Amino acid sequence: MCSCNVTGSAFFHYRMHIVCALLLLDCLVLAQSSSALNKMWDEWKIKHRKVYDNQTEVVFRRAVWEKNVQLVLRHNQEASAGKHSFTMGLNHLADMTSEEVNEKLNGLKLEEPFNFGNDTFKGVNGLSIPQNVDWRKDGLVSPVMNQGLCGSCWAFSSMGALEGQMKKRTGVLVQLSPQNLVDCSTSEGNLGCRGGYISKSFSYVIRNGGVDSESSYPYEHKNGKCRYSVKGKAGYCSDFHILPKGDEKALQAVVGSVGPVSVAINAMLPSFHLYRGGLYNVPNCNPRFINHAVLVVGYGTDRGEDFWLVKNSWGTAWGEEGFVRIARNKKNLCGIASFGVYPTV
Ligand SMILES: *[C@@H]1O[C@H](CO)[C@@H](O)[C@H](O)[C@H]1NC(C)=O
Ligand SMILES: *[C@@H]1O[C@H](CO)[C@@H](O)[C@H](O)[C@H]1NC(C)=O
Repeated sequence: MCSCNVTGSAFFHYRMHIVCALLLLDCLVLAQSSSALNKMWDEWKIKHRKVYDNQTEVVFRRAVWEKNVQLVLRHNQEASAGKHSFTMGLNHLADMTSEEVNEKLNGLKLEEPFNFGNDTFKGVNGLSIPQNVDWRKDGLVSPVMNQGLCGSCWAFSSMGALEGQMKKRTGVLVQLSPQNLVDCSTSEGNLGCRGGYISKSFSYVIRNGGVDSESSYPYEHKNGKCRYSVKGKAGYCSDFHILPKGDEKALQAVVGSVGPVSVAINAMLPSFHLYRGGLYNVPNCNPRFINHAVLVVGYGTDRGEDFWLVKNSWGTAWGEEGFVRIARNKKNLCGIASFGVYPTV
């Protein structure tokens, strides 16, 4: 009774989230009794298939989870009082500290300043920029995956951008293989589950002459031996382009006219780890602290608030069925326009 599922297209479900927040408030009252809290814990563990190795681990995870329960309940109480534009939830990361999430899931390496020379973004003048874009509706966005406890966000982000361009070129959306990147792009400077770079992912696909499909080279949540096979090849890349740093208008122009764009963001805050739905507008989401790669798949305006529509790789139990709406035109909030990259095929 304390779980709160919003199904269907999660795009305009802010109202539902308020209802959820109120449901959770009821739970807060119940949670005063420890038996109710025990019940919530048991239900949460079943829902997220949690099994712990030993009793020490159980005690530690329960303590972390309880802290997160308090955090989520307090936040949602404030959200229902109008103090926040988004809700938080007890997703599969709720038994991890934010330090652990940042260490284990946010494996984006900071790109060195590039000498882009000939490869710079050519400017946005003359492009007609739509007011709203959602590339999911055009079939350019594959299903949300869960990277697990592996810092491979960079591979999911870059393959997501390439999937969109391949779909535009071939008319078919084929999910590409982040595992191919995790296992095979070490000579480009990527470190598998210990992290990597968006740009070096495209460099790998260019050098390798292609990348396999997800179905021929499935994701494994861990480093493995390189098993690229040309028989499974489903994507290729000829070049990639870096957007001007911090320019949300340029990002909008490219997302609107080209397709999904790989970006780097600050995903360090507990409010992001336990984000449930709504407009992620957190003024202290510093654009200089970037640690996670995601995919911008659209943008729009909801009730006068501009947002970026962003695909994450933390499974569908996180956020709005795996997506997050991040506040747009708020001085590059979370660094969303600090490092945008898109491939050409
Ligand atoms: C309990 O499990 C944790 C996590 O798997 C592990 O790190 C720890 O060493 C284990 N402790 C004992 C006493 O087995
Ligand atoms: C730009 O293009 C020229 C000619 O194609 C090439 O010689 C030069 O190395 C390129 N510069 C960069 C930074 O890629």
